[in-house]
Amino acid sequence: MAFISYTTHGFILLLAAASLLAVSDAKTIVVGGSEGWRFGFNYTDWVFKNSPFYINDELVFKYDPPSENNSGYSVYLLPNLWSYIQCDFSKAKMLAGPNQGGGEGFKVELNQWRPYYFASGDKDGYNCKEGLMKFFAVPLPHWNN
Ligand SMILES: *[C@@H]1O[C@H](CO)[C@@H](O)[C@H](O)[C@H]1NC(C)=O
Ligand SMILES: *[C@@H]1O[C@H](CO)[C@@H](O)[C@H](O)[C@H]1NC(C)=O
Repeated sequence: MAFISYTTHGFILLLAAASLLAVSDAKTIVVGGSEGWRFGFNYTDWVFKNSPFYINDELVFKYDPPSENNSGYSVYLLPNLWSYIQCDFSKAKMLAGPNQGGGEGFKVELNQWRPYYFASGDKDGYNCKEGLMKFFAVPLPHWNN
């Protein structure tokens, strides 16, 4: 009994240590920096300059609610490269709606080793096509620990 409880504790301690390591390595990155998530900013260029990202990094999308100047931004995850290129939202998953970008912003943790295709979705893909509001990232594993 004592042995079981000892190993259980040891295991929990190990898990705790591992998750502390992961947390201390993870970065929080505001998409677009001080520009935030808005129409007309080149996010492909932004990603290029801010790569690489690592697994467990957190992206923060900060954007204004709909107004006279924007029809409503949002955060969608597109299923593949083709839908990303086409700005095709038919199989996309909405992560955050037009009113979720205020305050601290909307946070997405990149917790898998896979491509993440992000875009702002609206009626005709206008934000995505004309507003350049799309980018993709493949977070890398932490090789060094
Ligand atoms: C956005 O930036 C990328 C990478 O720098 C560049 O190739 C592309 O032409 C830019 N797009 C526009 C519309 O300026
Ligand atoms: C909309 O754009 C106009 C012209 O750029 C600006 O004067 C106005 O303050 C903007 N409105 C909002 C709500 O951002």
